Order: sequence, then structure tokens, then C-alpha cells
Amino acid sequence: MKHWTQLGVAPIPGTGESLLLFRGKDDFFIKISSGGGELMSTRKHGSEDALGVLPCRRLRNTVSPRVLIGGLGMGFTLAAVLKEVGAEAEVTVAELVPEVVQWNRGPLGAHSGDPLSDPRTVVHVGDVMKLLRSKRNQYDVIALDVDNGPEGLTLPSNDRLYSEAGIAIAQQALRTGGVLAYWSAGPDQAFHDRLRRCGFMVEEITVYAHGNKGARHTIWLAS
Ligand SMILES: C[S@@+](CC[C@H](N)C(=O)[O-])C[C@H]1O[C@@H](n2cnc3c(N)ncnc32)[C@H](O)[C@@H]1O
Repeated sequence: MKHWTQLGVAPIPGTGESLLLFRGKDDFFIKISSGGGELMSTRKHGSEDALGVLPCRRLRNTVSPRVLIGGLGMGFTLAAVLKEVGAEAEVTVAELVPEVVQWNRGPLGAHSGDPLSDPRTVVHVGDVMKLLRSKRNQYDVIALDVDNGPEGLTLPSNDRLYSEAGIAIAQQALRTGGVLAYWSAGPDQAFHDRLRRCGFMVEEITVYAHGNKGARHTIWLAS
């Protein structure tokens, strides 16, 4: 039987819920206080890596790319982006829960290669939606993984990010030719259609959560 030790509790602003950080023998996971399974785990991050790699591979000719990641989580998407972009890149990660940033500066950092200490990383503590509203024509890639996908779990207000109005706000923050990428626990035809209605060409990609079998997740690349 596995033994898990609870290491931290972090209130999720705007909700009565918290994120709970647990440590096992060799790994960590984060759950939401209201129950359900793991929200994130250091063991399974294939699709979080893919959210960073897939849009950035389209940036080959961009000299000083600017990337925005919504949701630090365990830092795997951030680490994957940093591997793909060059020395001149600037990668902002917006994280709503301040303790998540502390956990990544502490025990989680070693699992993702400590991407917060990379000089190209800029941390923004706050709601990525608010940050997007304040930006026009700023980012070559915006990669969003703030929740379970269009059917959110963590924060009801995250639904805005997946609405036509929210997609349009992200679109305005993109530079011409930029890529807007979304992670989801599964496919969602209505969301795919909303991206298209906003004028994007959409590629829907299915990726394994871990290795090359088992659970699969969905990534949309909209450009
Ligand atoms: C599923 S995790 C992200 C996992 C991440 N892709 C990784 O590589 O580990 C979602 C994260 O988004 C954060 N979050 C939730 N809503 C947010 C928002 N509106 N703005 C910024 N961060 C948010 C959560 O606190 C959590 O850390």
C-alpha cells in the first residue's frame, strides 16, 4: 500500500476550495479539496509536455519569441517550452495560486528541471484571463492549461477562457501568425467549433498522458 504525506494546502482564490499537495515515495501529486482524483502528478506529464512542444515547434523562424503559459501546475509545460525556444525568448507563466509557485521553487522544482530559475522565465501571479485582457499583439504562443479543459473543475470562472468571448480575448493578445494552444482531459466538439467560429484553423491532437498507452488527452492548436 502506498503512503502519501500531505505537504501543503493552498486556497484557490475566488472559491471555497483548496489545492492539496501530497508526497509519495518518489513522486508528488496535487488534488482539489472537494475530492476527485489527481489534478496533476509528477509521474504523468506527457500531455503537459506536448502542450509546450507542439505550438513552439511552429516557431522555428521567430527570433525572439514571446510565450505565455496559463497555469504553472508542476512546471512541465514551462520546462518543455524552454527546451524548444532559443536564448532570446521570454516565457511568461501566469499562476493563480501563489503557493503553487512556492511549491515549484521548493520540492516540485527538481521533477521538472527547475524551470522557474531559468532567466527566460517571468512569473506572473494572478489570473491569466486578466493578464490576457490587458495585452494586444504580444505573444507568439499562448498555451492554456488552467483546468480540466472546457468542462472546468477548479474555478467556475475559468469557463470564460473557453467561451467565444474568452477565445477572442486570447486572439487579440496573439501576434500575427501566432498559435493559441489549449489542453483538455478529452475531446470537445463544441469547443473545437467555437475556435473555428473565431476564425482559427484548428488542429486537434490526441496525446498519451504517460508513455504510449493508457489515458489520452486532447490538445488544440489554433492559428
Ligand atoms: C492542470 S494545472 C497545469 C499543469 C501544467 N500544464 C503542468 O505542466 O504541470 C492548472 C494550473 O492552473 C492554475 N490556474 C487555475 N486557474 C487559473 C487562472 N485563471 N489563471 C492562472 N492560473 C490558473 C492552477 O492553480 C494550476 O496550478
